[in-house]
Amino acid sequence: MKPSAAKILFGGDYNPEQWPKEVWEQDYRLFDLAGIDTVTLGVFDWALTQPAEGVYDFSTLDAVIGKAVAEGRRICLATGTGAHPPWLAKAHPEVTRVDFEGRRHRFGQRHNSCPSSPVFRRLSAELARRIAHRYAGTEAIVAWHVGNEYGGACYCDLCAAGFRDWLRAWYGDLDRLNDAWCTTFWAHTFTDWDQIEPPSALTEHWRGPDHTAFQGITLDYLRFMSDAMLANFADEKAAIRESDPGTPVTTNFMGMYRPIDYHRWAAHLDFVSWDNYPPDDKSAARMALTHDLMRGLKDGQPFWLMEQTPSVTASRDVNPLKPPGVLRLWSWQAVAHGADAVLFFQMRANRGACEKYHGAVIGHAGRSDTRVFAEVAQLGAEFARLGDATLGARTPARVALLFDWDSWWALELSDGPSRLVRYQEVVLAYHRALWDLGADVDVIPVSADLSGYDVVLAPALHMVKEDLAARLESVAERGGSVVTTYLSGRVDSDDNAFLMDVPGPLGALMGVRVDEWDAREASFANPVRLADEVTADARLLFELVLPEDAEVVGVYEADWYAGTPAVTRNAFGDGHGWYVGAGLDQGGVSWVVRQVLDRHGLIGPYAGIPDVEVARRVTPDGTPLLFVLNHSGSAVEAPAVVSGVDLLTGVRVEQGTVLRLEPTGVLVLAESRPAA
Ligand code: GLA
Ligand code: ZN
Repeated sequence: MKPSAAKILFGGDYNPEQWPKEVWEQDYRLFDLAGIDTVTLGVFDWALTQPAEGVYDFSTLDAVIGKAVAEGRRICLATGTGAHPPWLAKAHPEVTRVDFEGRRHRFGQRHNSCPSSPVFRRLSAELARRIAHRYAGTEAIVAWHVGNEYGGACYCDLCAAGFRDWLRAWYGDLDRLNDAWCTTFWAHTFTDWDQIEPPSALTEHWRGPDHTAFQGITLDYLRFMSDAMLANFADEKAAIRESDPGTPVTTNFMGMYRPIDYHRWAAHLDFVSWDNYPPDDKSAARMALTHDLMRGLKDGQPFWLMEQTPSVTASRDVNPLKPPGVLRLWSWQAVAHGADAVLFFQMRANRGACEKYHGAVIGHAGRSDTRVFAEVAQLGAEFARLGDATLGARTPARVALLFDWDSWWALELSDGPSRLVRYQEVVLAYHRALWDLGADVDVIPVSADLSGYDVVLAPALHMVKEDLAARLESVAERGGSVVTTYLSGRVDSDDNAFLMDVPGPLGALMGVRVDEWDAREASFANPVRLADEVTADARLLFELVLPEDAEVVGVYEADWYAGTPAVTRNAFGDGHGWYVGAGLDQGGVSWVVRQVLDRHGLIGPYAGIPDVEVARRVTPDGTPLLFVLNHSGSAVEAPAVVSGVDLLTGVRVEQGTVLRLEPTGVLVLAESRPAA
C-alpha cells in the first residue's frame, strides 16, 4: 500500500514492540482492510531505545519503523519520554516526583518525571535528539509526537528552586512579589527568595490542592508548573529541530485539563492534537466544546484527534461501551469541529498491565469480524472516499466564548463565595446553549482578537487581565453583544480584588454594580422571572445586581431579595452588555443566549430539534461544508437549508427537500448553487 493521497489521517497508537513479528503481519493485513494509513509509534519506548545510561539501541524501533514504511503508512513518531525507564530512577532518584504531600516517589507508573530535574531534561532531550537524528528524512514521518499527555505536578526541591527562578523572572523583585501575594496578611513578608516554598500540604494548603491560604502563591505555582513542563516539551522540540527543520511537532493535549494552561503552550506546538475520552457516554455537547477549545488554541487551525477509544476505556470505575454507530458519529463530530486526523488508542489491545481491557481496533483474538472492527473499517472507507474535501477547512464562527485557565484556577482556589461553583460547569452551560441553538463558536483565549465576532460570551470571567475590558467594550460599541456572569470581573492578574465596584473593569460595559452576593447549598433554588412566561431556577450563587444604566431583564422571585434584579442588559454603543448575576439553570441560560443570538440572526436552522448538531466549515477554496449530526436516539426529518452534495453518499440534495437522519446519522453537505 502506498501512502494515500491527501485525506483525513486514520489510524492511531500502535505498539508492535509488544508482539512477535508474525503478529505484525496480521496487523498490517487488518489495517489494509480497515483503511488505516497512519500509525503513532514509540510512545513508551524509552526503556527499549536506551536500556542503560549512555547505551542506545534502536534495533526494535528500526524494525517497527521499517515495517511501517514498507507497508506504506504514515508515521507519527514519538520521542518516547512519557515514561522514564527503571534504571534512570535507580541511578538518579531526582528524576522521580515529590507529591503534594511531600512524599518522594520511587520508580513506577508513567508521566513520572520531575520537570525541573536537570538529569531528566538532559536525557529526555538527548533521546529526542538521537531519535530525530536517526529518522529525520524518513518520508513517511508526518509528525513528531513529544512526550505524552503532559500533566500533574511535582513539589521537590529542584522544583522549589525552579519556582524561585520563575518568580524572579516574573516579578523582578521581592517588593513586587510581596505586593502581588498580599503577604502582609498572616505575616508572610518575604525578605529572601529562598524563604519561598512550593504551596503544598506541608506549607500553605489544607484539605487538598484547592484550599490554600495564599491564592496568589498557588496560582503562580500552577503557572510555573505549566511552564516547567512546557520547557521539557521545548527541550525536545529544539533537539528534534537540530536534524529536522520542517516536520510538524506536537504533543497530545487532554481537552479541558486544569493543570496545564494550553494557551501558554499553543504557540510552541506546530499543530494541536488532543485525546478525547469523554467522562460518560452522553457527552456530545461537552465534546463539541472541547473540540472548539482545542481548535481555538491556534487561531482556528485544524487539529488532530490524536486518541479516542474505538469502544471502551479501562481507567474508569465503570467503562461503558460505545453503542453501534457512536464511534462513527463522534469521529465525524471531531471532523465537523476542525479535525484533520482521526486516530485511536489503540491499534491492538495490550496483553497485560492496566490497559488490557482498553478497547482497540484489533482485540486479543486478532479477528476482523468483530462489530468494532467493522465500524472502524466502515469509517476508514468513508474517509478514503472523502479524500481531501475537508482538509484545512476553517470554522466561520460569529460567536466567541472566552476560556481562561487563570480564571479557572483563581475561581476554584478561592475561599468564598462558594466551593460549589465550578468553572467548567458554568462554561459548559453557556456553550451548551450555543450548541443547542446551532451556532458555530470559537472558544478562544482572553488575549485573542475579538474584532471578528458579533457575540462574545465570557462566563465566570473571574480574572480580568490587561486590556480585555476595553476590547470587550469595543465589541459592544460596534454593535455586538457581550455576555458575562456572576463572579466575573473580580480579580486582577495577581488574583487580588479590584479596588472598585464589582464587576470591576466590566462595570461600565455592564452598567451595573454589585455590592452583595449570597451563596447557598445546591438544594436551594431561587426562581428568576426572565419574561412574562419564562421563569428559570437559579442555584449556588445569587448576586444582588444594582442597575446603574442597565435595564432589568430578570428578577429574583424569592427570599428577602425577591423583586430585585438578577439579569440585566445594558445598551453600550450600538450593542449590549448582558449581566447574568445568578446561577441560572440550563433553561435560563439558554433563554438569555437565545435573545442574544436572535438579535444577530445567529440561531441555527435545526435549533428546534433536540440533540441534532449543526456545524460549519469552509474549505480553503471557499466551499461551505454543513455537518449535521444526529445525537438523539431517534430518526429525525428536517428540510435541507442549502443545496449541495452529501459527501458521504454522493447524493445531491436540493434546498427545501426533506432530509432524514437515522439515529447516529451524519450528513456532510458540500454546498453548491441549487440545480437549474
Ligand atoms: C491516554 C494515553 C494513552 C492511553 C489512553 C487510554 O490518552 O495517552 O497512552 O493510556 O489514555 O485511554
Ligand atoms: Zn520536581
